[in-house]
Amino acid sequence: MLTTPVCRSLGIDAPIICAPFGPWDEVDLAAAVCQAGGLGSLGTAVRPLPELREQWARLRRLTDRPFAINHTSRPFDEEAFQATLEERPAAISFHLAVPPDLINRAHDAGILWIQQVSSRGQAQEALGAGADVIVAQGGEAGGQGGDVSTMVMVPDVVDMAGEVPVLAAGGIADGRGLAAALALGAQGVLMGTRFLASQEMSVSQAWKTRIVESAASDTVKAYGSERILPPFNLPGSTGVPRCLRTPPGGRPARAPRTGGPRRDRASRDGRHPCRQRRGIPPLHRPVHRPRARDPGGRRDRPTNRKGSRGGAGGSDPRHQPRAMTALSPET
Ligand SMILES: Cc1cc2nc3c(=O)[nH]c(=O)nc-3n(C[C@H](O)[C@H](O)[C@H](O)COP(=O)(O)O)c2cc1C
Repeated sequence: MLTTPVCRSLGIDAPIICAPFGPWDEVDLAAAVCQAGGLGSLGTAVRPLPELREQWARLRRLTDRPFAINHTSRPFDEEAFQATLEERPAAISFHLAVPPDLINRAHDAGILWIQQVSSRGQAQEALGAGADVIVAQGGEAGGQGGDVSTMVMVPDVVDMAGEVPVLAAGGIADGRGLAAALALGAQGVLMGTRFLASQEMSVSQAWKTRIVESAASDTVKAYGSERILPPFNLPGSTGVPRCLRTPPGGRPARAPRTGGPRRDRASRDGRHPCRQRRGIPPLHRPVHRPRARDPGGRRDRPTNRKGSRGGAGGSDPRHQPRAMTALSPET
C-alpha cells in the first residue's frame, strides 16, 4: 500500500483522510475508513454533547484505529472542545480559523493538530501556531472555504510548510486526484464530497444520487451565507460555502434537526442577535411560525407516510434537501 511520512505520524496505513461533515452522523463511515487504513473523522457542529459522546463511544466500539474529531468556528463550542480533549482522539482537526490557544491545549493533551487552511495567510498562521499537519483546501471543496484552486494552493503551501506535512483537499475524488496531490508535493489527501456520497454515510440516498449525477457546473459558492448559517465566533474566521445549485422551482433545503438548544432558530429566520445589534432588520418572516389558519400549530409542509417532513436522512425523495450544503452549520 502507498504510504507517506504523514501516515506514520497519524498512525494510518494510507494517506487518505475522510472529511468531517458538520452536524451529520458519520460514525459508520469513519469506522469503514479507519478499518480500511485511512483516517476517519467525526464532526461536532451544533450537536449536543451527550450525542457527541455517544458517537465517540460508538466509533470506539467499531474500530480501535486512530480517528480525528473536528471543530470549526461556525460556531466554536468550548464545552465540546474540552470534552474532545478528555476523549483524546489521535488528532483534532480544525477549520475556518486558526486558534493558537486551542492548538496549545491539544498539544498539552498529547493530541495532534490538523489545520485546514484556505489561503496563504491562514497557512502562515497555522505554521506559526505549531499545527502538526496542514490541509491545503482549494476553492473546489464542498463545505466552506476560499476561492484559490487546489492546483494553486497545494504547491504554495507545500513550499512554505518545510517539514510540516501538507495534505490536499478540494475536488479530489479518486486515485488520479491522489496521484496529482502527491505530484504537487502533498503527502496525501482529505476527501469530502466523494465520501459523503458513499454507502456508509448516513445522509439520504437522494442527496448522494444528486452528488453523483451532478456536473462541476452544478455547484456554486453561496455568498451571503451569514444570513442563514450560525455566525463565526472566533477571530480571523472565514469561509464561504460551496453547494449544489437548487434546481429551478426548487425549495431551499433545511438543516438537520439537532434536538438540542444549540439549534439557533433566530439565525435561521434572519433575526440573529448580530443583525439586531447592528440594527439590521430581519430578513423575512420566521420560517416555522404556525399559520393563523392552523391553530394546532401544525406546519403546512406535507409529511411522508412515516410522519417525517424529510430533511437529512428523510426517506421521501420529494422532501430531500436540494442544497443542503448551503444550510448546514459548517457547509
Ligand atoms: C457536507 C459537507 C460538510 C462539511 N463539514 C465540515 C466540517 O464540519 N468541518 C470541516 O472541517 N470541514 C467540513 N467540510 C469540508 C471538508 O473538510 C473538506 O475540506 C472538503 O469536503 C474537501 O473538498 P471535496 O468535498 O471537494 O472533497 C464539509 C464538507 C462537506 C461537503
